[in-house]
Amino acid sequence: MTDPSITAGDAEDTKTDTADTGRTGMFAGDDPFVIAQTWLSEAEKAEVNDPNAMALATVDPQGLPNVRMVLLKGIEADAFVFYTNYGSAKAQEIDTAGMAAFVLHWKSLRRQIRVRGHVTREEGPAADAYFASRSLQSRLGAWASRQSQPLASRAALMAEVARQTVKRGPKPARPPFWGGYRIVPVEIEFWADGAFRLHDRFRWRRQTPGSRWSVSRLNP
Ligand SMILES: Cc1cc2nc3c(=O)[nH]c(=O)nc-3n(C[C@H](O)[C@H](O)[C@H](O)COP(=O)(O)O)c2cc1C
Repeated sequence: MTDPSITAGDAEDTKTDTADTGRTGMFAGDDPFVIAQTWLSEAEKAEVNDPNAMALATVDPQGLPNVRMVLLKGIEADAFVFYTNYGSAKAQEIDTAGMAAFVLHWKSLRRQIRVRGHVTREEGPAADAYFASRSLQSRLGAWASRQSQPLASRAALMAEVARQTVKRGPKPARPPFWGGYRIVPVEIEFWADGAFRLHDRFRWRRQTPGSRWSVSRLNP
């Protein structure tokens, strides 16, 4: 059966969002990207390390799921952005499927945000600017690493870093095989720990990027 909350923009959705869900406090607001940014800002004050670390899930052409940590580098008006190597396993899986999911979890806050969505590359000036903001060693490391490919030895990697250091100079350009991905969600869930495992969950859903959100409270 079709979940009525998926159908954006009708009277039932409006009722679901405003009359029944009781979204107050940390869940309040009309824009899920603003709520996500607020939660991340709170996590930045509370987490010991990498409050922007997220588990990024992809699926390979056989349908076998894959997951690894990456760093969330931007929350835009309608997207979440991270950076990686376009030759990596995750990039190949994203480029094939056009979709991905991720979860941010903050132990200090006992909260999580889950996102599922459509993915496009971010390889323009924004990617250039982010690459330029990284330390020189990180930029040279990006040039040296064939991410996800077999590597003969640590020494071979360091030799490649040395080679790239000479070749690229003090201001290396962004490698053509390295850049961002922009995840445009069709689903965002905000979860907060509740007493006796009676957690609060609010799922924002829309049929397609750009269409109207509807919000449902979910059972824990
Ligand atoms: C906390 C943390 C943050 C990471 N951030 C990134 C990142 O932003 N981009 C990236 O390509 N890999 C990042 N990695 C490494 C990935 O987890 C992974 O090893 C790598 O991207 C290769 O994944 P793949 O073979 O599935 O493509 C991070 C690892 C950890 C533990």
